[in-house]
Amino acid sequence: MYFDAIEEVFKTHDFNSVMHFAGFKAVGESVQFPIKYYQNNVVGTLFLFEIMQKYNVKKLVFSSSATVYGNPQKVPIDESSPLSATNPYGRTKIIVEDMLRDLYQSDPTWRIAILRYFNPIGAHKSGRIGEQPNGIPTNLMPYITQVAIGKREKVFVFGHDYKTHDGTGVRDYIHVVDLVRGHVKALEYLDSHEGVEAFNLGTGKGYSVLDLIKTFSEVNHVEIPYEFMNRRSGDVAISYADPKKANELLHWRAKYGLEEMCEDSWRWQRLNPNGYED
Ligand code: UFG
Repeated sequence: MYFDAIEEVFKTHDFNSVMHFAGFKAVGESVQFPIKYYQNNVVGTLFLFEIMQKYNVKKLVFSSSATVYGNPQKVPIDESSPLSATNPYGRTKIIVEDMLRDLYQSDPTWRIAILRYFNPIGAHKSGRIGEQPNGIPTNLMPYITQVAIGKREKVFVFGHDYKTHDGTGVRDYIHVVDLVRGHVKALEYLDSHEGVEAFNLGTGKGYSVLDLIKTFSEVNHVEIPYEFMNRRSGDVAISYADPKKANELLHWRAKYGLEEMCEDSWRWQRLNPNGYED
């Protein structure tokens, strides 16, 4: 079914590169429904590669994730850090990355950029394109914006006994528009480079859960009540990127800071209290 649907696109359109965004991405859901994740993220993706090969479209930007670093042994994390998965979602990303390295080995005319996203937040400046989670948000930023808009009472902070500057988990939040710019740069890079390369897309800076809540509150002048809870299982204490490879090879650097990420996330939520349903 997948196969025919994807092939129909290749039969009826002419293009020379593919950016693959059709993966599922919720860690908890992947633990509950692993088959759904392997089916879509691995099998569906395999069909796509098979058809790309058949139609001689061999330029690909693949959305991977910092989750492939598992519980990192050191930070900042560079691309040569060991890969490991702590859940089915992460495993699907590692499997596809491995498939791509095998594919290139078999046919060196492929041009593949694997982009390992850190924690994308923010929204388009227009306030018209943003993130609408299904049901209760599992990620921190959409949870904060739903508290700010009055949909939820308070943020539950998962763990305040980590070895970090304030005890809460540290992540590398990256503005979604910077992430988009990274894709454009990756595509440009592939115009002149064969091979398969993985790139971290992150700012290189780590912020804690409380840093994010406080910055959001300050720049948007809204109160964000919160309560400390136990750690969430599977969470790591600290994760942030070494973005040097993307800086040097892609000529890409994140340009938006945490304040703009918070302003833009809030603008989207404020203008779209019910997401795209409005
Ligand atoms: N957190 C809370 N309360 C919440 C939600 C999150 O305290 O309601 C905390 C988490 O414990 C963590 C931080 O906020 O310390 C960020 O959590 P997110 O769920 O927003 O993001 P994760 O870092 O857990 O996961 C993200 C993506 C995954 C990806 C992973 C890669 O959502 O798809 O980064 O590292 F696999």
